[in-house]
Amino acid sequence: MAQRIDGRQIAEDVVAQVKERATKLIADKNIQPGLAVIIVGVDPASQVYVASKSKKAKECGFKSVQHTLPADTSEADLLALIANLNADKSIHGILVQLPLPGHIDSGRVIQTIAPEKDVDGFHFVNVGKLVTGETETAFVPCTPAGSMILIERVRGKDLSGLTAVVVGRSNIVGKPMASLLLGANCTVTVAHSRTKDLPAVCRTADILVAAVGRPEMVKGDWVKPGATVIDVGINRISTPDGKTRLVGDVDFAEAEKVAGAITPVPGGVGPMTIALLMANTLVSAYLAAG
Ligand code: GUN
Repeated sequence: MAQRIDGRQIAEDVVAQVKERATKLIADKNIQPGLAVIIVGVDPASQVYVASKSKKAKECGFKSVQHTLPADTSEADLLALIANLNADKSIHGILVQLPLPGHIDSGRVIQTIAPEKDVDGFHFVNVGKLVTGETETAFVPCTPAGSMILIERVRGKDLSGLTAVVVGRSNIVGKPMASLLLGANCTVTVAHSRTKDLPAVCRTADILVAAVGRPEMVKGDWVKPGATVIDVGINRISTPDGKTRLVGDVDFAEAEKVAGAITPVPGGVGPMTIALLMANTLVSAYLAAG
């Protein structure tokens, strides 16, 4: 049976470190890290994620501000709010929860966030730094950055020469994940819905990252024996007894019989995403402190 990667515990370790360093920044320089989280509309899943982010920021000793805007908020109003937060010295991180309502141009919104406050790592400046290997000064998107920590806990820091397959090519997870793995000298394949013989491609992976948003799509016989499996999916499905439960993009029961190590859902990647958001906000506050 595969080792279960305890994302909750590892995230707690990261958060404890962040808390300690935030306390030190406040004591030494009287600078309290500040995170502003913006949500537009009432998507239930987004509301849950945003509430957890705001709560964790408070736990870290940060200033935590949440802006909950109605679904019919105009793009101009949202851009004006971001401009205010860009200019606010007490705010070091700005996060706009995605997806946004259809009448708002997400790209324009993201590019309006000051790159030095873009703790999600979605601004072109941060994407460009990641792709060109300037990771020392880039904000790296939280889910892939958290996933890398989990991978390194299992395989050690040296991933050189390993074969990695990322299933999913989103800007939030798939593409930055591929950049990080490439930066760590893995041989990387990005697979997606048009990939031919996806099971065979997945079977080549020493490190398999699933980020497609399709419940339990990756089956046990897609997994190479001993592989490290990182399941980024969070899908709510109905069960025969009329209830619902959360599952990942990987069929956990099957895959854990084959993999060397695997993240559960929930309790795997999810907590790491929030922990890395705190870490990015702390770094931003330190950089602002000079
Ligand atoms: N929606 C799903 N994941 C994310 C994320 O990491 N950041 C933001 N802003 N929105 C998301």
